[in-house]
Amino acid sequence: NRYIVIMAGGVGSRFWPLSREKKPKQFIRVDGDQCMLVQTIERVCNVVSSENCFIVTNKDLLRITQDTIKDFMPIENIIEEPSRKNTAACIAYSTLLLKNKFGSGILSFIPADGYIEDNVNYVKALEKAYLAAKSTKNLITIGIRPTYPATGYGYIQCDRSKGNESYFKVKKFVEKPDLETAKKLCSSNDNLWNSGIVVGDMDTLINHFKQLLPNHYNLLSEAINQDMQGFSCTNAIEKAYQEVENISFDVSVLEKTSQIYTVRGEFDWDDMGSMEALSKTLKTDLKGNFIKGNYCGVDTSGCVIYSEENILVTSIGIDNMVIACTKDAIVVCPRDRVQEMKELVNELKNKG
Ligand code: GDD
Ligand code: MG
Repeated sequence: NRYIVIMAGGVGSRFWPLSREKKPKQFIRVDGDQCMLVQTIERVCNVVSSENCFIVTNKDLLRITQDTIKDFMPIENIIEEPSRKNTAACIAYSTLLLKNKFGSGILSFIPADGYIEDNVNYVKALEKAYLAAKSTKNLITIGIRPTYPATGYGYIQCDRSKGNESYFKVKKFVEKPDLETAKKLCSSNDNLWNSGIVVGDMDTLINHFKQLLPNHYNLLSEAINQDMQGFSCTNAIEKAYQEVENISFDVSVLEKTSQIYTVRGEFDWDDMGSMEALSKTLKTDLKGNFIKGNYCGVDTSGCVIYSEENILVTSIGIDNMVIACTKDAIVVCPRDRVQEMKELVNELKNKG
């Protein structure tokens, strides 16, 4: 049996001020009528039924998640984490819960911040990944041909001699390299971007936790056995979460395991990781500005301008800048420095 788990408990600080603690980026509409989370649900429901679709998020986002998804999938399928402990904990906890509930099956973990237009090829790639997970009993990632030396993604180095026309063996997985390394990785056809999707048989995943995340495995499985109440947090889970390490699945498992294959996705893809990605979703004007909202400018080119409905944004004589504003905050920043938004958000936190 096939299940999908959408990971939707991140903060998306590089998307500030559009993305906020109480309303992170998965709840924002970047294009179309629906927010990224609902678009993700609609996309994956081409592959599994909505009853087999789950969302894992943290307690603070439970209400907004329920309200957002209630017309698209069962709200009982929301797995609640007590706190944000990154994707290793999120994947381990969800796998153990679903193993308990269903006994066996293949899981696919999907980030809620992917921007994809070509749903047909997306579905094809996921189908291939499920088949590969079943036949290889390895972990399967979905790789995308890089278009620039991104430093915000993971890279998959493939060994094309091992595999078949659907999937290749992964030689090495490199999470978020520096620019120098990214340039090298980008120059070879054998390297792909990691789309963040992981597919694996429940037992394969659990074997990986036992070997590479033993602390996560022991603490979480004990807590689940102690007192399980559906998918909501219990005291035992809360305690276990206090103790587990805050680490990503990419660094703790994908970089370490040798049991990993990749399926090449033929769809367009971008992580809505930073505001720069908005340029992929918005239409340009004659001067190459990407605009959403109410804007008027003179001698302005190559800018990404995002304003929530009722705010008029104007500019004179600027190039290659991002301007994003919501009703209570504005950011102005060169387009090639949007990755530093994380630092700005930290600075804001320090100031209280
Ligand atoms: N439930 C839950 N709990 N979800 C989480 C948590 C958590 O503690 N932390 C992150 N997530 C969710 C995010 O909401 C997002 O949908 C997904 O997990 C991935 O987390 P990100 O924080 O967005 O990761 P990233 O973009 O920096 O890097 C990952 O994704 C890239 C592609 O999108 C890595 O897998 C990279 O290798 C990959 O290229
Ligand atoms: Mg991301």
